[in-house]
Amino acid sequence: MSALPIGVFDSGVGGLTVLRALAKHFPLENFIYLGDTARLPYGTKSPVTIRAYSEQVMNFMIGRGVKAIIIACNSASSQVTETEWKGLPVYSVIKPGAEAALSVTKTLKVGVLGTRATIESGVYPTAINAMKSGAEVFSVAAPLLVPLAEEGWTNDSITDLVVARYVESLLEKQIDTLILGCTHYPLLKDSLRKICGPDIKFVDSGDALAAWIERDLESGRLKPSQDLKRTIKVFKTDLSNHAQAMTRKILVGFSIESIEGVDLK
Ligand code: DGL
Repeated sequence: MSALPIGVFDSGVGGLTVLRALAKHFPLENFIYLGDTARLPYGTKSPVTIRAYSEQVMNFMIGRGVKAIIIACNSASSQVTETEWKGLPVYSVIKPGAEAALSVTKTLKVGVLGTRATIESGVYPTAINAMKSGAEVFSVAAPLLVPLAEEGWTNDSITDLVVARYVESLLEKQIDTLILGCTHYPLLKDSLRKICGPDIKFVDSGDALAAWIERDLESGRLKPSQDLKRTIKVFKTDLSNHAQAMTRKILVGFSIESIEGVDLK
């Protein structure tokens, strides 16, 4: 048993969609979350910068005494291939997402919507093709969706227009599955569903990852917690009122012990 927290991070509020899924799946686990809001967005930055930021956040997590690190950011996951960091298990969202997509696609035509960093890295086609030959993966970078999600424009005609522009070419390819390859995008699911129609299956990093964590809790790679009073602590590298309000909105229904500012340098 281990009541040590699981550390989850992202550039901003997107990773809270992963935290929300994990907190729901694992009600006895303690969590700490870091949103690197001072340096958001990650997805428009170069691989070297994203890697450096990710290492700093992982070191912060080690300092907080976590038992595992979850990279709840596709852009950071595209630059961190290690499955351990200083002896602790590290989970990226890429392989779980690729596996989840392959488990639901019938036509093997899979779309990926992600940040420029994630799409340019080619991590999803690489992971999917390594798991299954014959799958066709169509990718589109959608950089404007992160600011819309951070702004909270989750059900808005402007968001619908932007989503439509980005997914148009994927719909032309007749994909049957769409990987929401950025953890901010589940916040825009209403728009995505409106534009994609009812039949395309969405793969969300949070649910995909929960299946992997479950497996590791069962196999013993991760020691489970039995904490009946689990806590969720949130850290931000820039603590604006808006970021705090968005955090509470996304984690509604979960009790947040604290939201604190932190300086990683
Ligand atoms: N939510 C992140 C991702 O999954 C990053 C968004 C960003 O900072 O650009 O890629």
